Amino acid sequence: MAPGKAPARLKQPSKSKKEGGRPAFKQQDKTKHQATPSEKPGDPTATVALGSLQTLLNVFRNAFSERLASDVKPLLQQVKQHLFNREFLEAFGKDEYLEAYAVRWSPSRALGYAQIFHDLHDRIIEKEPGKTTDQFRVVCLGGGAGAEIVGLAGFSQQFMQENLSEEVKEDGPSKLSVDVTAIDIANWSPVVTSLQSAITSPPPLSKYASAAVKEANKELLAPEAFQTRFVQQDVLSMTPEQLSAELKDATLVTIMFTLNELYTASLAKTQRFLLMLTEALPTGAQLLVVDSPGSYSTVTLNGAEKKYPMHWILDHTLLSTTQGRKWEKTLEDESRWFRLPEGLKYPIELENMRYQIHLYKRLSQASSDS
Ligand SMILES: C[S@@+](CC[C@H](N)C(=O)[O-])C[C@H]1O[C@@H](n2cnc3c(N)ncnc32)[C@H](O)[C@@H]1O
Repeated sequence: MAPGKAPARLKQPSKSKKEGGRPAFKQQDKTKHQATPSEKPGDPTATVALGSLQTLLNVFRNAFSERLASDVKPLLQQVKQHLFNREFLEAFGKDEYLEAYAVRWSPSRALGYAQIFHDLHDRIIEKEPGKTTDQFRVVCLGGGAGAEIVGLAGFSQQFMQENLSEEVKEDGPSKLSVDVTAIDIANWSPVVTSLQSAITSPPPLSKYASAAVKEANKELLAPEAFQTRFVQQDVLSMTPEQLSAELKDATLVTIMFTLNELYTASLAKTQRFLLMLTEALPTGAQLLVVDSPGSYSTVTLNGAEKKYPMHWILDHTLLSTTQGRKWEKTLEDESRWFRLPEGLKYPIELENMRYQIHLYKRLSQASSDS
């Protein structure tokens, strides 16, 4: 949509949950979390094992042990203030702010994302009879802070554990080789490197650890099974060529708690970016958008400003058929909760996460032409 132009034929946002006919997730809430009126029966809760979730928290503890041992509160106050003022470039403008953000906000999100990827596994892992390893190539836009990376590591580990016990599967792979590219405007490179190392190296042990403990001390994932790459880049100023180079082999692109920031920076540039992304992605690739529920963006309509729900504008851009049918929306839920199970240990407070979720699948050229 051009800047200042009215969005043509915006549909009324649907209030109902649409899950492509899949059953709702089981409710297993063990937390003391207070129910709010917006919660629904059937909200998914942690089905990823407690031990796996704790292992993911340990990744953050090991990656940032010095930061966590220091008084991180003053830094967090400053970051919070910038985020509150919506000064995103300032909030993510210093190495120490980035690390403070990563230890405070990424762990809860990482656990929630491990659960989201786990919930979606039969949609995002390609089923090919006889195939034992799936190459899962994920590009995380705005994913430098590490939550998606650690969430994917948790998902991958759980996926392999669940499939290990089964006989060679006839209906799909039992191993994953995950390749994550995080593209972000801020320089999260040191954070990504520390997390990659904490995921793919055995955790540090006390020098008094027994031989048996040392023997059993293994990395979460083998380095060849989990690779990360960081690209510092403003996605809104990428050229079609740059974007194609990053996305040409992607199986999944994620935009998690970032789309609203992009719309805030520039609605027109974000629309343009999403159209470029559509052209750059191969058939069958999926786009996962997760954000705060009820995010609104302002659109100028006949000279007057009007607010539309974020996902409504997104649907309008991706599902508009003026250029042929390019995407199929396979999942939509305007509000879900990830609730933390009891018993997790982490030096900083963890939070339940409420989110909206949207999954789209890139259709083939033939569908576009029809
Ligand atoms: C609220 S944080 C979310 C981080 C992470 N995706 C998560 O879910 O925890 C938004 C992220 O988007 C990044 N970001 C904002 N504008 C961007 C842009 N134009 N290009 C690339 N990254 C951007 C920020 O640097 C930040 O890492």
